[in-house]
Amino acid sequence: MKTFKIASIPGDGIGPEVMAEAHKLLERISELDPEVSFEIDTFPWGCEYYLEKGEMMPENGLEILAGYDAILLGAIGFPGVPDHVSLHGLLLKIRKGFDQYIGFRPIKLLPGAPRVLVGKGPEDIDMIFIRENTEGEYAGVGGRMYEGTPRELALQTGVFTRAGIERVQRYAFELARSTGRPLTSITKSNALNYSMVLWDEIFTELVKEYPEVETNSLLVDAAAMFMVRSPERFGVLVASNLFADILTDLGAALQGGLGFAAGANINPEGKHPSMFEPIHGSAPDIAGKGISNPIASLWTAKLMLDHLGLTNWGERVLAAISKVVSEGQVATPDMGGKATTSEVGEAVRNAL
Ligand code: NAD
Ligand code: IPM
Ligand code: MN
Repeated sequence: MKTFKIASIPGDGIGPEVMAEAHKLLERISELDPEVSFEIDTFPWGCEYYLEKGEMMPENGLEILAGYDAILLGAIGFPGVPDHVSLHGLLLKIRKGFDQYIGFRPIKLLPGAPRVLVGKGPEDIDMIFIRENTEGEYAGVGGRMYEGTPRELALQTGVFTRAGIERVQRYAFELARSTGRPLTSITKSNALNYSMVLWDEIFTELVKEYPEVETNSLLVDAAAMFMVRSPERFGVLVASNLFADILTDLGAALQGGLGFAAGANINPEGKHPSMFEPIHGSAPDIAGKGISNPIASLWTAKLMLDHLGLTNWGERVLAAISKVVSEGQVATPDMGGKATTSEVGEAVRNAL
């Protein structure tokens, strides 16, 4: 019997609602499989914690989390705490602190999920974003001066290192090679004449190392257009922190909405725990109503199972999600139904 230690940070807004379903899913798996169990410790970190303690998580938060096999996160951010405070105080601190330099975000339209593109189905919308997750536009380097005066200024510096670019692009090349998919590099070197030129140069170097991978390079604005016009052209995409942030919300829309989109923040070397979180945020507009879609969170748990080596269970979870979505009987309002968060969670567990 193998026991996995999971740190759970439900966070804010709909985070705790969707996380409850992820926990119940893991419990169900341990009931079904005598070889596997999960020891889940829940941490009450987030915006409420901040309002009480003045920090999003304890100062030794990373030390606490370091002892776990994986971290599950719901969502962070809520009106009352400025977003840059809440996100830099927790989410981005963990991604950077644990060197989770791969943002792994699959975009896959399941049969039965809401469609926004005319004439495009599940066979057309199936791609994986590899997001640079620790530097770039999110480096947090910069400053403000002369605040509150007419001279006030703000500097936000993108930090792009050769090592940082090469490791994320190499990961994407390896993934493209092992899955036999084409690889697209997302750039903007026509305008960003330093950072994205370096990005392109490194991509060109790696193209030579991986002659068997079909590659191309697209400017980010054109990539957004092609994701809508011809999503079938994409297999694996590699992009900087900000570009992939934006394009994966677009991708989420293509797969039925933010309620479907899963993500992982991976430290491939396993030196630190990886963190698994849906792409969506805390959805303050629907929080507390019990109608948030838990599928993104359950799919995120699937990514965690894969990462922990439980790929058989990962596959079964996705099959259970697919069954519930394709039957369409139990669906939250964003999926066109009337079911609650927990009813969808229960339907997926029963489909297991
Ligand atoms: P959001 O993703 O929270 O919501 C955007 C829209 O999608 C809303 O209409 C919301 O109701 C809907 N939506 C999102 N998830 C859903 C789900 N599971 N089921 C049904 N509908 C869903 O984005 P936002 O409104 O721009 O941001 C809200 C807060 O979340 C902000 O504080 C933001 O900084 C934060 N945020 C956090 C994360 C994270 O923790 N990973 C990610 C994105 C945004
Ligand atoms: C995401 C979110 C975060 C990001 C925010 C909340 C900092 O939008 O995970 O996509 O930009 O990475
Ligand atoms: Mn985002």
